[in-house]
Amino acid sequence: MASSKKLIYMVDWTKIRKDFPALERRINGRPVVYLDSACMALKPRQVIDAMNEYYEMYPACAGRSIHRFGEEASNAYSAARGKFAKFLNAAQEEECIWTRNATESLNIVASSVKLPKGSKIITTSLEHHSGSLPFVERAKRDGLEIEIVKAQMDGTFDIEDWKCAIDNNTSLVSVVHSSNVTGTVSSMKDIVEIAHDRGALVMCDDAQYAPHHPLDVQEMDVDFSCISVHKMCGPTGMGVLYGKMEHLESMNMALYGGDTVSDVKFEDGQILPEYLPPPEKFEAGLQNYAGAIGAGAAAEYLQAIGMHEIEKHERSLLKVALKRLLDMEHVHILGTDNINIKTGLVTFSVDTVPSAHDVATFLNDEFNVMVRSGWHCVGPFHYQMGIDPKKGTARASFYLYNNLDDVKAFLDGLETLIEASA
Ligand SMILES: Cc1ncc(COP(=O)(O)O)c(C=O)c1O
Repeated sequence: MASSKKLIYMVDWTKIRKDFPALERRINGRPVVYLDSACMALKPRQVIDAMNEYYEMYPACAGRSIHRFGEEASNAYSAARGKFAKFLNAAQEEECIWTRNATESLNIVASSVKLPKGSKIITTSLEHHSGSLPFVERAKRDGLEIEIVKAQMDGTFDIEDWKCAIDNNTSLVSVVHSSNVTGTVSSMKDIVEIAHDRGALVMCDDAQYAPHHPLDVQEMDVDFSCISVHKMCGPTGMGVLYGKMEHLESMNMALYGGDTVSDVKFEDGQILPEYLPPPEKFEAGLQNYAGAIGAGAAAEYLQAIGMHEIEKHERSLLKVALKRLLDMEHVHILGTDNINIKTGLVTFSVDTVPSAHDVATFLNDEFNVMVRSGWHCVGPFHYQMGIDPKKGTARASFYLYNNLDDVKAFLDGLETLIEASA
């Protein structure tokens, strides 16, 4: 008889830390505390090795050259797409398009999706500029209506606001799944249901969600999703656009040229192209093969650890951080402190210090603690909250390689700064 005991899988987070060479550095004889993963994640040895292997062993063009190196590059490139599709649980790997970053993915959708004349696009005050501006510009270009759903003060959305905003004339909704400024997780299931009921497509910005939570694009039923590979332990200059095949097929192309065609005839003095289906349709020219291979390795690396485990680990760090931060005089947290609807980051201002850059500089110089400062490319929400974007906010973001010592170093540093400045 099979045992009814469940195997409990425990992640050795200390061992995970050792995968990241950057964490071996000492600056002024002290360890580094990296809390800026919401901007850029550190890279594990497994990703670096996969990319180095490409450059050292088979640095050729995939899909074109039939020689040995070309074949190896083609195989690795194609396997990488498969790994990424598995990471997102896409129905087919051809639904995953390689791009340069999440911004490019969002721009491709904004510029190339066919939307009815006179229809309405909806986006929000909490979007990263990359999630709102491409759609604001598309609306301007085609004379479409645009409506902005306002996030609430805690960074969540009131579902009633979505019900009011999305009407039968709405063709597309662009919404952030997890905010890079408040960390709040949007209720995508509800938003998608309302949008689809009223015939609108949903573009979900998963740049912050995908690295930190289990993501299943089929279960979410979103029409498009964008991923920022550099935020999920992968290489820089890589992103992914996920789209349901029917939409990718009907969209206009964004770039034309080599590798997008099955045939280009020359008849009666005319050049007559026949274009390939997705993903090649959207991947013109020689691609970033090393980047795609690194992206596949990153997806595989995170999945092997387990996205549920990563989510739990980060939330445990966030809980400790929030508990002490909430007790700190002069510290104001942006967005909810409910960790159950929050990705592992905290954004805050300190009212005894002139600007968030001063907070980041002090923590960096005195404690080797690296946090982000500025407006995080989310100007509208800073204005909505009455925060001068020039003064900005500071953000500490946690990832799988962070530990309680990192959280303590950050909080000790912040307390020292407040004591010195109050
Ligand atoms: C929520 C969100 N969307 C989009 C982006 C843009 O991502 P990328 O740098 O990959 O273009 C970011 C980057 O910080 C982000 O946090």
